[in-house]
Amino acid sequence: MHKPRFITLEGGEGAGKSTQIRVLAEALRQRGVEVVVTREPGGSPGADILRGLLLSRDVSWAPQAELFLHFASRAEHVAKTVRPALARGAWVLCDRYYDSTMVYQGYALGGDLAQIAEFSRMIDLVPDLTLVLDVSVKTTEMRLSSRGAAADRYESLGTAFFARVRDGFLKIAQDNPQRCVVINANRSLSEVSADILAAAIA
Ligand SMILES: Nc1ncnc2c1ncn2[C@@H]1O[C@H](COP(=O)(O)OP(=O)(O)OP(=O)(O)O)[C@@H](O)[C@H]1O
Ligand SMILES: [Mg+2]
Repeated sequence: MHKPRFITLEGGEGAGKSTQIRVLAEALRQRGVEVVVTREPGGSPGADILRGLLLSRDVSWAPQAELFLHFASRAEHVAKTVRPALARGAWVLCDRYYDSTMVYQGYALGGDLAQIAEFSRMIDLVPDLTLVLDVSVKTTEMRLSSRGAAADRYESLGTAFFARVRDGFLKIAQDNPQRCVVINANRSLSEVSADILAAAIA
C-alpha cells in the first residue's frame, strides 16, 4: 500500500496527538503496513537522553541552548530511528517534529524564525504529511484540566500562550499546504480519527 510515508502529528497540548497516533497506527497495521510510532523530543536512545536534559527542572536553558538541544535530539532521532525505518519500508508516525520547534521556540517564545527554518532545512527530511490537530483554546483548557496531571512548563503559561501556539500551527499549515492538513480536533475521537485516516491513506 503506497510508498513508505513519514507522517507527523502536530498541535498544542491536549489536541489529541498521542491518542490519535495510536489509533492511526492500529488502522494502518490492520491494512498490512509496518508502522513505527515515535515522538519528539526523543525517539532514539541518544535523543531520549537529550529529552531528559530538555525536560529537566534542574536547568533553565538559555533559549538558544534549548533550540540547539531540540535540533541535536532531532538529528539523532532522524538518523537512528526515522530514516532506517523508512528505508526498510515502514511508515513512521511522529508525535511532534520541527513544526513544534517553530511554534514553541519561534512563534510562542519569540525565537529567531529564520534560524529555526534554517535548522529545519539542515535536518533534510520533510514530512510527507503533517496533520495539524487544531483545537480551540477552550477545548485545550478543558482537556488539560480533565487530564489532571501537574501542569508542565508550557501548560502553566495560560490562555494567551495557547492562542499563540494555535495561531503558530495554523500559520505553518497555511504556509505549507503541500504537506499540511488541518484537522478540526474539537470533535469526538472517532470523527477526528476518521479524518486522520482518510488524510493518511489519500
Ligand atoms: N477528540 C477528543 N475528545 C475528547 N477528549 C479527547 C479527544 N482527544 C483527546 N482527548 C483527551 O484529551 C487529553 C489529551 O489528549 P492527548 O494526550 O492525546 O493530547 P496530546 O496532543 O498528545 O497532548 P500533549 O501535547 O500534552 O502531549 C486526554 O485525556 C485525551 O483522552
Ligand atoms: Mg501527547
